[in-house]
Parts: sequence; C-alpha cells; structure tokens
Amino acid sequence: MCGIVGILGNAPVAERLIDSLKRLEYRGYDSAGIATLEGGRLTRLRAAGKLKNLEAEAAAHPLAGVIGIGHTRWATHGGPTERNAHPHVAGRVAVVHNGIIENFRELKDALIAGGAVFESDTDTEVIAHLLSVALAAGETPQDALAKTLKRLRGAFALAILIEGEEDLLLAARRGSPLAVGLGKGETYLGSDAIALAPFTNRIVYLEEGDWAVLDRKGVTIFDAEDRPVARPLKVLQSSALLVEKGNYRHFMAKEIAEQPDVIGHTLAYYLDLAEGRAKAPEGLDFAAVERVSIAACGTAYYAGLVGKYWFERLARLPVDIDVASEFRYREVPLKPGGLSIFISQSGETADTLASLRYCREAGQRIAAVVNVPTSTIARESDVVLPTLAGPEIGVASTKAFTCQLSVLASLAVAAARARGTIDAAEEKRLVEALAEVPRLVSQALALEHEIAEIGRRIHKASDVLYLGRGTSYPIALEGALKLKELSYIHAEGYAAGELKHGPIALIDESVPVVVVAPFDSLFEKTASNMQEVAARGGRIILVTDEEGLAHAGLTPAETILLPKMPPEIAPIVYAIPVQFLAYHTAVVNGTDVDQPRNLAKSVTVE
Ligand code: G6P
Repeated sequence: MCGIVGILGNAPVAERLIDSLKRLEYRGYDSAGIATLEGGRLTRLRAAGKLKNLEAEAAAHPLAGVIGIGHTRWATHGGPTERNAHPHVAGRVAVVHNGIIENFRELKDALIAGGAVFESDTDTEVIAHLLSVALAAGETPQDALAKTLKRLRGAFALAILIEGEEDLLLAARRGSPLAVGLGKGETYLGSDAIALAPFTNRIVYLEEGDWAVLDRKGVTIFDAEDRPVARPLKVLQSSALLVEKGNYRHFMAKEIAEQPDVIGHTLAYYLDLAEGRAKAPEGLDFAAVERVSIAACGTAYYAGLVGKYWFERLARLPVDIDVASEFRYREVPLKPGGLSIFISQSGETADTLASLRYCREAGQRIAAVVNVPTSTIARESDVVLPTLAGPEIGVASTKAFTCQLSVLASLAVAAARARGTIDAAEEKRLVEALAEVPRLVSQALALEHEIAEIGRRIHKASDVLYLGRGTSYPIALEGALKLKELSYIHAEGYAAGELKHGPIALIDESVPVVVVAPFDSLFEKTASNMQEVAARGGRIILVTDEEGLAHAGLTPAETILLPKMPPEIAPIVYAIPVQFLAYHTAVVNGTDVDQPRNLAKSVTVE
C-alpha cells in the first residue's frame, strides 16, 4: 500500500504535495513525508502519525522548491516512526516507495559490505543506496535506474528525486499502480489519478514493468526490457469534487447515506427496469459456462459469498469461492474456458490481482466487478463489470459493498435467464424486486437513530457474535468484520447452524448476539438457534421484519425492524443496519472511524 506523489512544477510544491497526499491517505496513514530540491539541494520533512502532523511540521518549517516527492505510509518493514518514514535519502537520491522489496536483506548486506550506512529499518532504503552508488560511479540517472530495477525483486511503485537535477523525476512500476499526470509546463506522479485531480485530468498509466523519465515537457516511458514505449493518454472526468465530506462527520457516514443513489445507478446499468429484464452483460455467455470461480478479499469476498448463493440458487451455476490470498496458492484445477470473477473496490488488491493472473494463465475468461474503472484489475480483465459507487474514502467499505451485491444479483438474474432456469415472468419479478432496493435502503437509513442507541448500549462489550443463515450468513460475517475493524471490539460472524459447534461456549449475559434473520424459508431454523442463545443468557439483537419478530418465540433485548421484502434482495438491505451498528459503536468508543488503526483501504501488499 502507501501513497506516492511527485510534482515537477513551476511554483513551490510543498503545499501541493501535502494536499495530494490527503487524497492518498486511504492507502496508509501511519507516517508521511515530503522532499524537495531547494536551490539544487535535497531537503526533507517527515512525521510519524497522521498527515496532519506533517502538515504542522511543514507550517513550522516551510520547504521551498518547485520539484518534490511525497509519501503516506502503511508500515511493512520497520515501525511507523519518523526515522522509517519516506522519502528515504542516500547521497543525492530521495526515494518514495509503495510495495515490498523482497530481496532487500541480501541487497542491504551487500551495500553495507560496500560501506553504505543505513538510517532506517525499511526495505525501501536499499533503492536509494543502489541508485546513489550507481550515480557516484558516473552513471546517468536513467542508466542508474534501469540497472537498479534489474536488481530488485518484489512489488513496487517508485518516485525518485535527484539532487542537482532540477528538471527530472524518475518513476517505476512493478506490481503497484502509478499514474503520470501531464499539466501545462508541469508533470506529476501519483499512486492514482485522484491524487492528481486538482492539477490535471490528462493521465498516462504506467504498465507492468514500465519505468519513466519525467521533465517539465512530458514523459518518456520504457518497458521492462528498457525499450521506449508509448502508453495511451487518458483524459479523465475530474472526480476531484466528489471526495469532499460535505456536512457529514465522517466519510463513512456520507457513504452509508449515499447508498440509495449509488445502488440505483448501479442497478440501472445492469437492468432494464422498464422492461423488467436483466441486460445480457456484454462479453459474458453464462449459457456456455459450467462453473464460476470467484476470488476477492475482505468485504468484497463477503459480497462474493452472497453472489455464490444467488448464482447457485437462481441460475443453477456452481460457484467456487475463496479469499484471494488462499485461492492463489491453492493450485485450483481450472478447466480452460471457465469463467473467473474478481471483486474489488479499489481494483488494486495484490492478492486479488495475483489470483486474476493465475486464472488468466489457466485459460479462464476474466470478469471483474470493480469500482475504479482505471485500476489494474479492470485493465487486466476481459470483461469489466463496474460498480457505480463513486469514490469510496472510508477505509471500511460500505457503498461499494452494496453496489457489488447489486451487480452480482443482476448478473445472477441474467445468468438464470440465459441458462433457462427462470422464465420471463420470474425474471420480471426479480428485476422488479431489485428495483425496490433503493427505496428499501432509504427506509433502512431512517433507522439510524435507534441503531445508534443500540450502539451506545453495546459499546462496552468485549465480544459480539453475529449469526445468520443462507444469504444472511455473509451479512453476519460482514457485520462482525465492520464492528471489529471500526470499534476494536472482538466480533465473530458465524453460520447460525454452527453455533452449537463452538461459539455457544462464549455465550453469557455479557455477550451481545446480533441475529440477522429476515422472515424467509430458513427463519425457523435460525429462530431455534436464537432460543439456544437465550437459554444461556445471551443478549439478542434481532435484525428482522414484523413477521420475523412475531415468529421469534421470544422477546429480544433489542430489535431492528426492517420492512418486508422478497428474500432475494434482503442481503443488500440488511447490510445497512450492520453498517450503522458498527459505525455508531465506533463513534461512541471514540475510534478513528474513517481511518481505523493498522488498516488501509487499498491493500497492495501480499
Ligand atoms: C481492505 C479494505 C476493505 C476491503 C478490502 C478489499 O481491507 O479495508 O474495506 O474490503 O481491502 O479491498 P478491495 O479494494 O479489493 O475491495
């Protein structure tokens, strides 16, 4: 992870570098730094902790200079201290890095043997030293970079500033994304285009293995074999204005509230609401597919789990699903011609991308449900299935999740129709049900106040269990993930039927048990599990509808009542209360909701 930025400008850059880093904080936020050339000399400012600490440093000790690089860090090698913060400097070279240099130990040993003195515990510092040694031996910056890159193993995006070179920034990309921005007499580098949105919307994405030489006139790009290459210039819609918090206290609150709109946009893209049809997704022939494999991480994985239920039930299409970090190492036997679907908000998650590449090698057709259309996963897929959630800033995914669910539900209906497992009337019923989701989500949003009260009552718990069956099971998993990552309360999601195989041992009056159970064909089974919890004094928080409450056979400690709805769409709507419960519990606990400790939004390391 980590965010990197570079500006080759005509006016002082320090403030602009920090503004850009703010847009990249989703990639990491445990320390930050910038370096500029002041009168030809390297100067640097770094600070542990959030970007505001660096901002304060910059206000106290302003950096001049019209060329510079910056970094916001998510620590991998070496703790999140000022000493380990980027940029790292050796000799005339300053480097910022996103990724991991896997062979840094052997490189470091060799450099130390050659007399290099290291200042940090990071893997990154070896890059600065390797470049510095090459420059000291008289090589040009360009040759020094080409040579250094060949010695590095692992994944990285790099931005490099060299003392004495007032019209030069160097960049390289292997495994981690990097965008070059072209302005008027200025050029820029950023981990994504959003970081550069205030400066330019003219973007060139470096491709795998590329490295680049920037001056104020433009960029020259070389491929992994050092051959000059042309990469397309993209003129992006500027989304700069979309990443403001507005009147909300947190991005997460804003993003939860946006769900009726963004789900509506996403559904309208995949469904013909007037005709009551699911649009056949271009490039996907579900009738010809025998199996689907899905891989994703975190919340996106839970969306995939719900998708599995939908594809299997509606389209009778078997789905294998695994977290991407296991999938890629499982050596899954895949029949050539099969379909693999990858789900990712960022489109940059390292394990998901590696799984995609594994499936490509195995001759699969690759489809990606992604929120960032310019991301690596989108660019490496045969079929891009966009979620139209807009930029998601809160580290905990909310609107991207419900949009992923909306895409998968629409696809499952299209697959069912293509495979003849539902008729036109059933397709119409399902599409009409999906069309109701934005309205039902709005109704769920109206429960915020009462869910906040429940948050106040559970915030001191040290364990919380979430139970669900069928498509409510992944929602229970998602609820538990959200609560633990935001409020730091230990939480587990369990398939309700598994309760008696272990977690029931945890239950006493101090343990809130959130039961996600719309009144559907599985309700009675879940109700029995709820009785087992009640018999042991557990404090039940039941998320259900009127009928479910009437059939619960007990009075829960707390009830969150949602409107009645067709069971197929329930997981999308039931996601809202579990988001609110995690959000408000975290707010009471005073944790950093948008940037919880130790996490990052885009996980580009393995
Ligand atoms: C991180 C984020 C999660 C996200 C997961 C997968 O852990 O904090 O919110 O679900 O990565 O990210 P992706 O971008 O691939 O959906």
